Amino acid sequence: MDLESLCAEHKRWKERLTPLRREWIAWTRNATMSASLSTVALACAVAARNRGPVLDLGSGFSSAAFRMMGDPVVTIDDDADWLEKTGGFLDAHRIGRGELRAAERWDDAGFSTVFYDLGDIRMRYAQLSNALGSVGPGGFIVVDDTHYNQYRSAVRKALEASGFKSLPDEVSRRMTLDRFGRWSLLAYRSEPSAETGYGSVTLQPTTDG
Ligand SMILES: C[S@@+](CC[C@H](N)C(=O)[O-])C[C@H]1O[C@@H](n2cnc3c(N)ncnc32)[C@H](O)[C@@H]1O
Repeated sequence: MDLESLCAEHKRWKERLTPLRREWIAWTRNATMSASLSTVALACAVAARNRGPVLDLGSGFSSAAFRMMGDPVVTIDDDADWLEKTGGFLDAHRIGRGELRAAERWDDAGFSTVFYDLGDIRMRYAQLSNALGSVGPGGFIVVDDTHYNQYRSAVRKALEASGFKSLPDEVSRRMTLDRFGRWSLLAYRSEPSAETGYGSVTLQPTTDG
């Protein structure tokens, strides 16, 4: 996967998800409590380019978006009421619920894509390493809300300690910044390969796009 093709896929997903996002906001009557269009579109773009099971940590708009892809999706939320609200949205839009799980901990692993947007900031810190541990070899993680400097430092530290590689802040920021100033980080667990030393991921910022 290279950055240029990821950017093109990201653009396609932003367009594709725009009507769903509008319906989600109408359903919840709150734009700020849900992940942004550009962040969820980035997670979908990554998942579309790296097919396989998706772990959706923190239910909502992302839960509906991932279920448009056809790969298995596990959604986990610490808030059972909020999870049920998400389930209601899926039902109303005839999107299969699949696996919706109310939990504060999990030990599922081996996911191709993980979207980390669970609970409040305390929960984010508490489950960060658990979230990273759920990413399979060659898998990706999108960590939402990394515009909080202190949280981003902790995320970067944890990514480094777990052997992840990531897009530089300014590239992630440019791709996902929303009108509330929120943005997310994209990182991947590089898969050792005998020939190159890495997997097929070359997410280096080679253009301004
Ligand atoms: C930040 S929201 C976003 C989730 C989702 N990934 C999305 O794309 O919309 C998710 C977290 O907020 C918490 N939450 C609780 N009550 C909520 C509410 N009324 N609205 C939104 N989030 C709520 C839940 O714990 C949940 O895990």
